[in-house]
Amino acid sequence: MRIRHWVAVLALTGLAGTALAQGNVIAERREGLKRMGAHMEAMKPVADARGDVRALVPRLDDMLAFFRTLPGLFPAGSGAGDTKARPEIWQNMGDFQAVNARMVGQVEALRTAAAAGDAAAFAEAYRVTGAQYCGACHRNYRAR
Ligand code: HEC
Repeated sequence: MRIRHWVAVLALTGLAGTALAQGNVIAERREGLKRMGAHMEAMKPVADARGDVRALVPRLDDMLAFFRTLPGLFPAGSGAGDTKARPEIWQNMGDFQAVNARMVGQVEALRTAAAAGDAAAFAEAYRVTGAQYCGACHRNYRAR
């Protein structure tokens, strides 16, 4: 009896721990994605004005670091809760990762242009980033 009681307590604690961990991972990815939105907004006026794109390198480094870890922020089972992540993510994880890898490649291109101080190349790459790279993932994998 005693032993069974403790097994049940341990099992429940484990479940609660899992739910907590998933709540954290949802909050963490949403916070990160909000920050990505802020980076994109902050870079727009610089792109439009063909301004000092070199100053954007730290933002692009943060974006690279975040997107490189993004798939890890979508562990199995983290589709339930306070999230707009669609179940299709876990049904098509290979594609989700491929879409994200293209995002990483685009941020690398933006960073290369920024580091070179090439405002025209930066503006050209920036112009398509939101719709073609952020949007490519949101269309299929983020609920409205
Ligand atoms: C590989 C897929 C993927 C890519 C690439 C991606 N996103 Fe998202 N984004 C998502 C998903 C999925 C959600 C919903 C996350 C959730 O609610 O758990 C989301 C949510 C967001 C949110 C809302 C965060 C919140 O909860 O307040 C913002 C803002 C956002 N993304 C911005 C961006 C920007 C900007 C880019 C491009 C620089 C981008 N995303 C690229 C998948 C992606």
